[in-house]
Amino acid sequence: MARVSGHTIMNASARARPMSTMVKAITAAASASASATLPMPSRPAFRTSPATPAAATMPPGFTATVRQLETFVLPEQVSGSVSDQAMASAMVDAWRRDGILQVSMSQLQRRLYQAANVASKRFFGRPQGAKNASVDSRSYAGYVASGEEITDGLADYSEIFTVTKDLSPRDRRVARRWPCHGPCPWPDKDMKAVVGRYMADLGASGETILRLIELGLGVPTGSLTRYTDDGWHHMRVLRFPSRHRTNGKGKDGRGIGSHTDYGLLVLAAQDEVGGLFVRPPQQGEKFNNWQKSAAGAKENESGWIYVPPVPGVFTVFPGDMLQYMTNNVLQSTPHKVGLNTRERFAFAYFHEPNFRSVVKPLEGYNGGQAPVEGIHYGKHFTNMALRNYPDRVTTKRLVAEDRYRMLSSPELRDDGAS
Ligand SMILES: [Fe+2]
Repeated sequence: MARVSGHTIMNASARARPMSTMVKAITAAASASASATLPMPSRPAFRTSPATPAAATMPPGFTATVRQLETFVLPEQVSGSVSDQAMASAMVDAWRRDGILQVSMSQLQRRLYQAANVASKRFFGRPQGAKNASVDSRSYAGYVASGEEITDGLADYSEIFTVTKDLSPRDRRVARRWPCHGPCPWPDKDMKAVVGRYMADLGASGETILRLIELGLGVPTGSLTRYTDDGWHHMRVLRFPSRHRTNGKGKDGRGIGSHTDYGLLVLAAQDEVGGLFVRPPQQGEKFNNWQKSAAGAKENESGWIYVPPVPGVFTVFPGDMLQYMTNNVLQSTPHKVGLNTRERFAFAYFHEPNFRSVVKPLEGYNGGQAPVEGIHYGKHFTNMALRNYPDRVTTKRLVAEDRYRMLSSPELRDDGAS
């Protein structure tokens, strides 16, 4: 198993048990119980004193535990080898324990990340009027001003450039007015090239991670990746102002309110400033964001862990679809962002099912979870966009043109043959 020394803590239970036993234990328990209430892998959390570098970067005004996260080096290919199997099981354990894990960036990924950071800073440094022009009324791609995004009814201070599937107006899906489908209003060719390349590379990592998670869950190869053909992968290029430079629309110190993300995987990278908090799985807590909004949940309660910046890694956690498909064995990780004393730049890449996919419980993980007919990913994504951007021109056009209704049509639904 390839690990990065210095950031890795081997889970004691992973050492003690053969991997095949762990996989069987997970799948058997998932099959046996509708709620799949497995004991969470445990490792004592530890607090670091404020003097340590990790905790020193935590935004002021927040209380959280700092946990050393497990770091993995992805294999070039997933062959199902003993070492792949071991890594896969350890990844599943890490998510079930911490809600998040770290992946070491390759040299290429470091360069792509740095180039994307330069493009991001150049974009956000533009005059407000120029940024405001990067909007398209068909897609949710483009600029989101600080205070425009809403989480649980409150404005977020984040400033965002969102990249969704960049489709020509001549693309059939755009011409036929599919919800959320349209061009990405790139500010310039350079940002398109740099961020596009970075996303493509993260996409390759996303596929590798899904293959590993298939192994870790003990499900047939392709159980997850069959959904990602022409996946609705997207990216949020993020800037957070310093807590002293906000526009007064939101809540003091709050960058983005607590929420879960929508699809399969979230791959995030951050600079050295710090601001991300995640909520690891906890007994008795389940947020089914596709049924009832998880936005704002537990935001001001204890139980959060702070994710300190670590150079040369990206973090990965599961989204709503993985939670549904695994019947809560993997839970969609609640997270939130606090504003720090300096401005902060980050990226969140979402590795997603095809927009038309109706995702179903995985083999061995079907406990009759609702909705029994599966979840239409495109509809879930659209619901979230409508919730987060009630006043955006895209929402107004979607409603005015009655595009939402199309989501129920066979053209926009792939129920699969299985
Ligand atoms: Fe998120």
